[in-house]
Amino acid sequence: MIVKDVNQEREQWGSKVGFILAAAGSAVGLGNLWKFPYVAGKNGGGAFVLVYFIILFLVGFTLMLAEIALGRHTQLNAIGAYRKLREKWAFVGGLGVLAAFMLLSFYSVVGGWVINYVIKSVTGGLNVSDPEVLGNMFGEFVANRWTPIIYHAIFMLLTLLIVLGGVGGGIEKASKIMMPALFGFIILLAVRAVTLPGGIEGVKYLLVPDFSKINMEVILSALGQVFFSLSLGMGCMITYGSYLGKDTNIPESAVIIPLCDTAIALLAGLAVLPAVFAFGFEPAAGPGLIFVTLPAVFSQMPLGNLFAIMFFILVLFAALTSSISLLEVCVAYVVDEWGWNRKLTTWTLAGLIFAIGVPASLSMGPWADIHLLGDRGFFDTYDYIVSNWLLPLGGLLLCIFVGWIWGTDAAIKEVTNNGTLEFKLRGLWVFLIKYVGPVAILVVFVRSLT
Ligand code: PFF
Repeated sequence: MIVKDVNQEREQWGSKVGFILAAAGSAVGLGNLWKFPYVAGKNGGGAFVLVYFIILFLVGFTLMLAEIALGRHTQLNAIGAYRKLREKWAFVGGLGVLAAFMLLSFYSVVGGWVINYVIKSVTGGLNVSDPEVLGNMFGEFVANRWTPIIYHAIFMLLTLLIVLGGVGGGIEKASKIMMPALFGFIILLAVRAVTLPGGIEGVKYLLVPDFSKINMEVILSALGQVFFSLSLGMGCMITYGSYLGKDTNIPESAVIIPLCDTAIALLAGLAVLPAVFAFGFEPAAGPGLIFVTLPAVFSQMPLGNLFAIMFFILVLFAALTSSISLLEVCVAYVVDEWGWNRKLTTWTLAGLIFAIGVPASLSMGPWADIHLLGDRGFFDTYDYIVSNWLLPLGGLLLCIFVGWIWGTDAAIKEVTNNGTLEFKLRGLWVFLIKYVGPVAILVVFVRSLT
């Protein structure tokens, strides 16, 4: 159901569950299914997960609440929201829109790879048990000139078609179908992996912390992962919050969304790591884990082909519910601020983002020798600018803005629906947004640049 706000003609979520599923859909993405298992694998397993939890509570919940409150209060896109409250701060929203624009351009390239792997798994092309052969297959595919670009276009087109449907009819409806399916698939996969002979070693690796493994590197990786995984720091939750009615319970949403995100990340870890252990592979295999190691694991598993198909469809759904949120951040800005119609805006932006993504795809092969920042090609340069600069900067400025400029009293008034809702964690939240958030982010920011 699409509800229009009579006063502002702004579309709203059809239901509370719809909003939660869409926001959780934005959060749950390649970050959970592709990145979390290998980052956890690389950073000591349980030790990383423990630190991740602590940071999630300290920073994740705090910023999630701040972004949603800012969006719902202003009922505007990321730039408009800051501008409405303090003209000079509009640039922070601008950083967010730029980040979403850039992130989507290479996120969609990876989304394209996933579509190709869905097809490969369906046609039996992944039925190979030798990781070396699979590694070459993956390497040759991404280095190809045209094929990955065609898949990048298909992924962008799917994203565009959902966003064209609008907030209620497109994003909310798609999330309501894909998110429950995703939950179902990942639970099945995790149960399968955990019950494999030897799989329990993987569970231990993921859940039992070895405190000696906790160091600054692990903490930094966990903080970066929390940000990326929760879609924070680029105005995504501001935009989604702006389609909320005044009667929603923001504190509750700010707890449920990170919980869903973490549950999926953990389930992804449980689906991937025990299987990797059971078949004697390396948990620290890195970014190739789901494209190279996992197909090798599936090919040795009873009914493995079926699980491979399920897995890649799951990754595709997760990537799409995130990519639509990234496109929506940009679309909302142009529609709100420039007064363009939604259809024209969506096509134009999707076309531009696709074009910007093409060099990222080419940099995996034909343009591998073109270096932009240091020895980084296009793909790595985009990723570096977004992950190391725009996201932490956006998050830091968000903390300062809500904690000190807009002010925690105004934010709390919004969060408690003018004092009518109870907000038990109020004192803690104020402390976290004013002090802990900015300091923690600053430390990571400075460290990531050195
Ligand atoms: N949270 C998404 C993931 O984990 O894959 C990525 C993302 C989506 C980041 C949307 C930021 C964003 F605004």
